[in-house]
Amino acid sequence: MKATAIANANIALVKYWGKRDEKSILPYNGSISMTCNGLFTITTLEFSKEYKKDRIVINDEELRKDEKDIMGQIERIRKMAGIREKTKIVSESNFPVAAGLASSASGLAALTLAATKAVGLNLNQKELSVLTRRGSGSACRSIFGGFVEWLRGEKEDGSDSYTKQIVDKNYWPDFRMITTIVTEIKKKVGSRAGMAQTVETCPYYESWLKTVNQDLDIIREGILKRDFRTVGLQAEYNCLKMHALMMTTNPPIIYWIPATMEIIQNVIAWREKGLECYFTIDAGPQVKIICLEKDIPKIKGKLKNIKGIKKIIVCKPGDGTKIINKHLF
Ligand code: PMV
Repeated sequence: MKATAIANANIALVKYWGKRDEKSILPYNGSISMTCNGLFTITTLEFSKEYKKDRIVINDEELRKDEKDIMGQIERIRKMAGIREKTKIVSESNFPVAAGLASSASGLAALTLAATKAVGLNLNQKELSVLTRRGSGSACRSIFGGFVEWLRGEKEDGSDSYTKQIVDKNYWPDFRMITTIVTEIKKKVGSRAGMAQTVETCPYYESWLKTVNQDLDIIREGILKRDFRTVGLQAEYNCLKMHALMMTTNPPIIYWIPATMEIIQNVIAWREKGLECYFTIDAGPQVKIICLEKDIPKIKGKLKNIKGIKKIIVCKPGDGTKIINKHLF
């Protein structure tokens, strides 16, 4: 009862921010993302009668307190499989966790696939996306590779809130996202608490919901037509709308640090001078620069002059979550 899965993180072009059902993790709006080759988590998981308690080791560190998202998902899968064995989970990511880099997405996607395989449940990708969603919303988009849409759905049981692939990773192979890491400090307000606070207190949340379907249509169409300008501009606008919600939540949630702002200003200035790039930012300070492969050397050169950047990772459209044979223990 052991399996290992690898999952790539995903970065949203149309953001998910707000749950209409906290327990089943049902979103108020649909979202679209790119699954990122280059930001991944590998998770090995074993259920065994030998284990006396559940153990979770993430990036060589044993978790001491109860990790609710992870154990909630394990419990769900135990129930589905009708087993009670304890588990050992070892997980490694190649990027900082909990700093606004979608670590929960790759983490929960790898965990869900590895756990279902370990107990012998053979779910198809749609079923897997529904189950993954229960662990962490945005994680359900990492089940598929390429460009992916998470449908809002209408049903109360969540069965129609799943993900589907818009196009695979080979459809737009020169699309890139440069992740700039400006701090590795864990964020103070997690996305779960942050979005709940926004839904409850932000006076502009209704306006977000009124406009987000249009963002989805424009970006979906833009991807299908490989219309870079349209996708970049709309993704940037959607990101700013989400951060405007965060900032006008009470109490305010401001994820940006000075380096975030410096990158934003530079991206806009470079674009005005003809270097085509756009930005997007999640629930954290890191800026992801959306660009085409041909402009990577130029942008990398310019990023060297921005002091606050600690590291950059270039991502292209990547694969969905899959089983691998090499275990971590
Ligand atoms: O699924 P969560 O709880 O990690 O929330 C993700 C929220 C954003 O990253 C800000 C947006 C998104 O769609 O990925």
